[in-house]
Amino acid sequence: MPVEFLGIAATGDGSETTARTTASFDRDYTLRLGRAHEDNGWDRVLFAYGAGSPDPAPAAAFLAAKLDRLQILLAHRPNVSYPTFAAKTFATLDRISDGRLTVHFITGGNDHEQQREGDFLTKDQRYDRTGEYIRIVKRAWTSTEPFDHEGEHYRFRDFVSDVFPVQQPRPGISFGGSSPAAYAVGGAEADVYCLWGEPLARTAEQIEAVKTAAAAAGRTDVPRIQVAFRPIIAPTEELAWEKAHRTVAAIHARRAGGGGPLRRGGPGSDGAFRPENTGSQRLLEIAAAGERYDRALWTPTAAATGGAGNSNALVGTPETVAQALLDYYDLGVDILSARGYHLLDDAIDFGRYVIPIVREEVAKRDAEKAARAERDRHQPIAVQA
Ligand SMILES: Cc1cc2nc3c(=O)[nH]c(=O)nc-3n(C[C@H](O)[C@H](O)[C@H](O)COP(=O)(O)O)c2cc1C
Repeated sequence: MPVEFLGIAATGDGSETTARTTASFDRDYTLRLGRAHEDNGWDRVLFAYGAGSPDPAPAAAFLAAKLDRLQILLAHRPNVSYPTFAAKTFATLDRISDGRLTVHFITGGNDHEQQREGDFLTKDQRYDRTGEYIRIVKRAWTSTEPFDHEGEHYRFRDFVSDVFPVQQPRPGISFGGSSPAAYAVGGAEADVYCLWGEPLARTAEQIEAVKTAAAAAGRTDVPRIQVAFRPIIAPTEELAWEKAHRTVAAIHARRAGGGGPLRRGGPGSDGAFRPENTGSQRLLEIAAAGERYDRALWTPTAAATGGAGNSNALVGTPETVAQALLDYYDLGVDILSARGYHLLDDAIDFGRYVIPIVREEVAKRDAEKAARAERDRHQPIAVQA
């Protein structure tokens, strides 16, 4: 199975370690970062969603119109639009990009962040709405006949779209979350299930939960699995570890100065920060239990950001980080997501030095697997006496 690489699209140059020097939507920077991915072996970039951030859909349309090959993963929160409207936006974007769109549905892991844009449902209610929303979007993408809908969250009559995606029967659905409600909805509806990087054993546990949920939903296939990391690479192990410690110091310094991405969650009764989403709670629990796991996973970056999304690092030389990623491939992960702390430089370095090693090793593994299957096919079947 070929492996795919997902990078990050951004409309400005800020990160957890560096203050933004561009406008929040900077056309030149958006294009430069996208081009760095396209020119350095990446398959796709994620346009994330935040309540106050520039709207990722037109930003994605801009990038898709300027580049020829790079695919788009567009994050979308159901609370911000009506599903029939969203289906047309996505179909139009799939047309603009000539079939390069996948939509990442975000349920929202934090009440306060959701309430910023008028969403007062609980997390489990939000997951229920996401499920209904995805089913409507799928139908609107594929139905050439008008249809009605009568559901828990949406009700409409006689809708038919006049714009259909290039990809047939429809673009891919991507989904993330680590709570039981997330597994249930994503297991039923997603083509790609996204996880934040955790130790191998904990990742295996989540893959199993997704498979179980898909089977419980009556599916005969399973979603493809994507796992996300923050690579910290350098020419030697020693330099990579120095860089890792410098990175955590920069995250702490930026936070102490009141900068960096917003913490999503509130303080508990003891005043300590508690994220509301299971995915972030897992990252903090794993970080509290240890700093290093497996070949190269390092958790202080997750601890320093309060488990803010994709935050566990893989530290080492390109060879070490590539081997660590291959461990996840061997576990059943076939989409690897990576984002450095310097968005542009790291997209170039990771693309130049890590991606080729992983692709070559995956090709070898796949060729060996095919040869084994061919040998087994020609093996005479033992005749029972
Ligand atoms: C790969 C990935 C990307 C995500 N991107 C975003 C995003 O751009 N904006 C956002 O608000 N939430 C994002 N999320 C959060 C999830 O969509 C979801 O709302 C949250 O993880 C739910 O929490 P749970 O773990 O309790 O189920 C992302 C999650 C994953 C796994």
